[in-house]
Amino acid sequence: SLSLLLNGAHSQDLSTSIECPFPEGQDVASENECAKYSACAWTDGVCHMRSNAEAGYAVKGQSQSTERGFKMSLEKIDRAMTLYGTDVMALVFEVIYHEDYHVQIKLYDALNPRYEVPVPLTLPEAATENPLFVVTTSAENQPFQFKVERLGGTSGDQLFQSVGAITFEDQFLQITTTLSSTYFYGMGENTHSTLKHMFSPRDTFPIFARDHLVAEGHLNEYGHHPYYIVVNNNTGDVHSVLLFSSNGVEYSTFLLEDGTPALTLRTIGGIVDLHIFLGPTLEDVNQQYSKMVGFPAFPPYWTLGFHIARWGYANTTHVREVRERTKAMGIPQDGQTLDIDYMYRNRDFTYDPVDWADLPDLLQELHNDDLKVTLILDPALVVDWDNYPPGQRGKDADVYLKWLSSAYIPEDQDPSWNDYMVGRVWPDLPVVFPDFLNPVTQRWWADELILFRQNVSYDAIWIDMNEPSNFGTNLNEFQHDLMCPNNTWDTPPYPTKMVRVGPSLSRRISAQTVCMSGNQTDGNEIYLHYDVHSLYGWSETVATYKGLQEVLSGKRPVILSRSTFVGSGQYTAHWLGDNSALWNHLKFSVIGMLEFNFFGIPMVGSDICGFNLTPGLEMCARWMELGAFYPFSRNHNMRGMPDQDPGMWPEVAAISRDILLLRYQYLPYLYTLFYESHTSGSSVVRPLFSEHPKDSIALEVDDQFLWGKGIMVAPVLAKGVTERDVYFPEGKWYDLNTGVEVAEGPLTLTVPAPLEIIPVYAAGGVVLPYQEPAITTVQSRNNPFGLTVALNSSLQAEGRLFWDDGESVYVEEDTYLANITFANNILRLEVQRSTLPVTGLTLETLRFFGYPSSPAEVEVNGSILDPGQWSYDDATNVLTAFISVLLSENLTVMLL
Ligand code: GLC
Repeated sequence: SLSLLLNGAHSQDLSTSIECPFPEGQDVASENECAKYSACAWTDGVCHMRSNAEAGYAVKGQSQSTERGFKMSLEKIDRAMTLYGTDVMALVFEVIYHEDYHVQIKLYDALNPRYEVPVPLTLPEAATENPLFVVTTSAENQPFQFKVERLGGTSGDQLFQSVGAITFEDQFLQITTTLSSTYFYGMGENTHSTLKHMFSPRDTFPIFARDHLVAEGHLNEYGHHPYYIVVNNNTGDVHSVLLFSSNGVEYSTFLLEDGTPALTLRTIGGIVDLHIFLGPTLEDVNQQYSKMVGFPAFPPYWTLGFHIARWGYANTTHVREVRERTKAMGIPQDGQTLDIDYMYRNRDFTYDPVDWADLPDLLQELHNDDLKVTLILDPALVVDWDNYPPGQRGKDADVYLKWLSSAYIPEDQDPSWNDYMVGRVWPDLPVVFPDFLNPVTQRWWADELILFRQNVSYDAIWIDMNEPSNFGTNLNEFQHDLMCPNNTWDTPPYPTKMVRVGPSLSRRISAQTVCMSGNQTDGNEIYLHYDVHSLYGWSETVATYKGLQEVLSGKRPVILSRSTFVGSGQYTAHWLGDNSALWNHLKFSVIGMLEFNFFGIPMVGSDICGFNLTPGLEMCARWMELGAFYPFSRNHNMRGMPDQDPGMWPEVAAISRDILLLRYQYLPYLYTLFYESHTSGSSVVRPLFSEHPKDSIALEVDDQFLWGKGIMVAPVLAKGVTERDVYFPEGKWYDLNTGVEVAEGPLTLTVPAPLEIIPVYAAGGVVLPYQEPAITTVQSRNNPFGLTVALNSSLQAEGRLFWDDGESVYVEEDTYLANITFANNILRLEVQRSTLPVTGLTLETLRFFGYPSSPAEVEVNGSILDPGQWSYDDATNVLTAFISVLLSENLTVMLL
């Protein structure tokens, strides 16, 4: 049998560290409360789970081999030990070997099928025969535990080891594992104030899609990603784990009583479904995870340009003014985004006939100016059948989310509203919510996208409010506030800490969204909204993607979604939601951006200069500097706040122009990172520990980040400062602008950072392709290229340059890729495939950083370069050569 037995030493029961679930506000339960739960016991003021032998499951019979692994039967040891009295008595524990680096572990009801997440995953055709891990379990009749270990690791890297009792009730599943270190990252969507999680005291976050603004307070926000990464800092090995669940999740990081780091995972429905990825590097983990959930979408080139948005444009004239001042100040811009202002009474697929009557003309002007336009759409559609054809067509196709039971339909509900769940969002009348899981809905949505495009030639779609957001749920303050019934889904036995919201909002899991007792379908199965709630944004993304494929035939769809789920990255970009113009929100954005790169959604950013509240000049300048390094770089603002686009202040305009020109200069490098992300699942923005997993300082840094391996950004995140400490991990680091070697790490330096400076460095060992910038990518894409060759201490560097038309669906043969290396004083650029995309494009500048002394001569493709065409600066060790070659040809440059 494939299963090995867990020996006694590993089954030490540390249950007294595993807390029993208590509703918010009862974190410290009383002894009396604790006594209500037979599975719990009270020790030293803590209500904790009873031991595995008392409250857990036991192994029944031998394990059986399966096609891809093995499974075994488990039985509840003592039926009387319970939390909510809904325990599943007979379970199957199944181990599925997928790849040598990927194992899936499932725990499910042996008798009755339960909800499993319907999001498709990409799994290999056959099981690996050479797993790099081993799974051990308890022996027959013993209390059940299991362990997943890395094979061959000198210190036996532990990937997952269950501790204490596993709980498997109908609406409460709990499993605790030890962790190989406290270097624990990921999980979301939450506002984390540090990238590395806290363990002492215990730290708990809920996960469940919700429209909740960016805030500390351990709340569940827009997306649902129960996925974490652990770095074993002793071995340097990295692994990751997905809890593939769309039900409400809650996780706690804490220390067991013997000091071992541990994690409790809870979910309130479905099954326990874990996917473990072995890495062993962070980039390996990112690629392995993305391979399963879907490689990230390839953003068209223009989307890497700078975007301007706001909520609160009064009319088309207002947008023109913003465009004019941006252009007048020479600030690069590729995207103009329009919020719900453009709509007629906040109705999708309409535009206001008064203030936005010339919307088609505005779009034409922006297009003539080489800009692209993104329009917002909200999922909820107004109920005004006769006066709103898109809504009526949806009704005809019967696409809206329904109540599970007609008993829940409010008595006064208009009969023409059918059994639809009706709420209210931005429109002035009640709204219904399309069920995007349903293929019929997807068809209707695509048709509306096509129809609207006949008049309004948008380039991209922003889908917002798709948690889905619903105002006033359970508050009963206004007519048509959605009141959720009391049933086991709307009032689950344990609602998780997601009900931890202020007194003004309802303390139910349906707060700010629709009721859990909704009914959805994918055309085959009927789903409870309770189960698929967090898939709402994902399903809208899929529907929108399919629609845009038809609208933009052959071009890559561009979607920006607020709510995301596991796998959303293959379709959409994401922004981090409604932040505020507060200094700590700059730091949160760095953490969120790194986390979404872990989640396989690398095209991410936050509202530059803050959505809520009003930034001062200084904050907006600093945020423009930081935002110039968000993969998705967009300045956005809330209604009622003054304009804050960078052209508003001359100082901010100048700073923004300069830093965005630097961004635009390095877009070929960023675009190449996105190509790699799309074709191999690698991340774009990375934490410092990415290349240095044993570096205890790098493991903690969350106010600096990397673009790939090659560019390190150290933004200023505080008011009134003109210098900052920068940590330089091992290796050489150069000032990206001057090429001066700043540090050879590991080392921390205090560097100057007056208002107009954001410290940005090139990493030794990397070739960074660039292009002369311009104020749009349409222009910059025709400019001459250059290479920044930042040398490591062995005087070597390498890199790649990817190019295509910037917008067509990726087909490998039609794209250009060059490998670039520098070693033994020779720079080589070797073209790997088609040269068509680079027809006419030239490479004109080479900059070598850290070249120790002047060469006597520079030879380009066999010819000695005229001395006037190159120079060497003794003070900076920068060698600059001006050449003129076609990118389509292989290149050899020798420094003699
Ligand atoms: C939501 C979005 C925000 C948008 C607003 C109006 O709050 O998060 O970005 O501006 O709705 O559409």
